Amino acid sequence: MSDDVDLMSAAVALGEQGRITAPPNPWVGCLIVSPEGEVVGRGFHRAPGEPHAEVHALAEAGPRATGATAVVTLEPCAHHGRTPPCAPALIEAGVARVVVALLDPDPQVSGRGLEHLRQAGIDVEVDVGADAAAASLAPYLHHRRTGRPYCLLKSAMSLDGRTAAADGTSRWITGPEARADSHRLRAESQAVVIGAGTALADRPTLTARLDPPASRQPLRVLLDAAGRVPPEGPLFDPTLAATLVVTTPAADRDAVKAWLAAGADVEEVRSAPDGRGVDLLGALAVLGERGVVQAMVEGGATLHGALVRAGLVDHMVLYVGGGLLGEGGQPLLAGPGPSTMAEAPHWRVVAARPIGADVRLDCEPQADGSEGR
Ligand SMILES: NC(=O)c1ccc[n+]([C@@H]2O[C@H](COP(=O)([O-])OP(=O)(O)OC[C@H]3O[C@@H](n4cnc5c(N)ncnc54)[C@H](OP(=O)(O)O)[C@@H]3O)[C@@H](O)[C@H]2O)c1
Repeated sequence: MSDDVDLMSAAVALGEQGRITAPPNPWVGCLIVSPEGEVVGRGFHRAPGEPHAEVHALAEAGPRATGATAVVTLEPCAHHGRTPPCAPALIEAGVARVVVALLDPDPQVSGRGLEHLRQAGIDVEVDVGADAAAASLAPYLHHRRTGRPYCLLKSAMSLDGRTAAADGTSRWITGPEARADSHRLRAESQAVVIGAGTALADRPTLTARLDPPASRQPLRVLLDAAGRVPPEGPLFDPTLAATLVVTTPAADRDAVKAWLAAGADVEEVRSAPDGRGVDLLGALAVLGERGVVQAMVEGGATLHGALVRAGLVDHMVLYVGGGLLGEGGQPLLAGPGPSTMAEAPHWRVVAARPIGADVRLDCEPQADGSEGR
């Protein structure tokens, strides 16, 4: 059993190789292991329309798949999508046992794949190494369960928790290593989201700049309820990446025309319930429908505060630099907060690591609402 868990973590690491290119599909990894314990096949899902992880692993194993164990991070599919289903492929190859970390919440799969394997007399085990697989596939699982993207909030802040100086400047709070790391997060996201304030203050590009260059760019998403941001600068340069403006029916019609004329896509959702900005659930639903599995939010404090208060942030990445900006600087989260400690929402630091001269903190909401200290 502990061997199975170790093999599953190797399969998870293999699946991670498809993380940038597989979405909106899951970045699954699969190993085929002979009865003697030798790994005879390895596969991961590289891109939509291409073979699934199991198919690659079975191809490498060839006849050695007969009587072997397949170790797969996500339930094999049983339906015909763009590629033939994997459960029948495993049956046909003669595997004796299938070890799976997670059931697939996608309604097209959800339990059917495992049922298919069991009916064929294959010994099936589920929930093996599930924590590692769930951490890796969290954005996919969230997208399929809710229809919304996994919301990753990223911010760079000073040692005293400020995200911009009093004059609005925020370049560069952290060093080149932290910035390179955040470009990787952009590449792993299918959309990068900002609010109108950041678009006006920073005129950002929002592309993923990797070396070697990323094979695809995330959709750049601007939340602008009223039409305040003119279609100028790199954010509206269609040769860099596609841009989507999410706005409301109250937006200035000339602004909408100008966005469209500049080559941007425009989607309208209703106004936020408090009348400030676009409805965030509606905006995220629009992205979910467009196959955005992970949305990286790089807004300013206004958007971040609204998202956190609405309970819509699934993960925060905070890069903490060494500067001190004092009370004139902008906070991480604008808007009302709890009036007393007992009402404070709690987040858990799931990882902390130095990057260059800065520190990266990965934080998630405390699931059970307990204090976590
Ligand atoms: N350190 C960092 O990592 C970092 C990152 C980004 C920005 N910044 C800094 O942050 C500053 C800009 O901050 P900001 O707070 O003005 O920018 P922001 O949060 O990006 O934009 C806020 C604006 O977004 C629009 N918006 C649309 N829907 C919204 C909603 N549901 N909730 C909240 N806002 C919504 C609103 O304008 P409408 O009502 O007109 O739509 C709102 O005023 C700049 O100085 C920039 O340099 C720092």
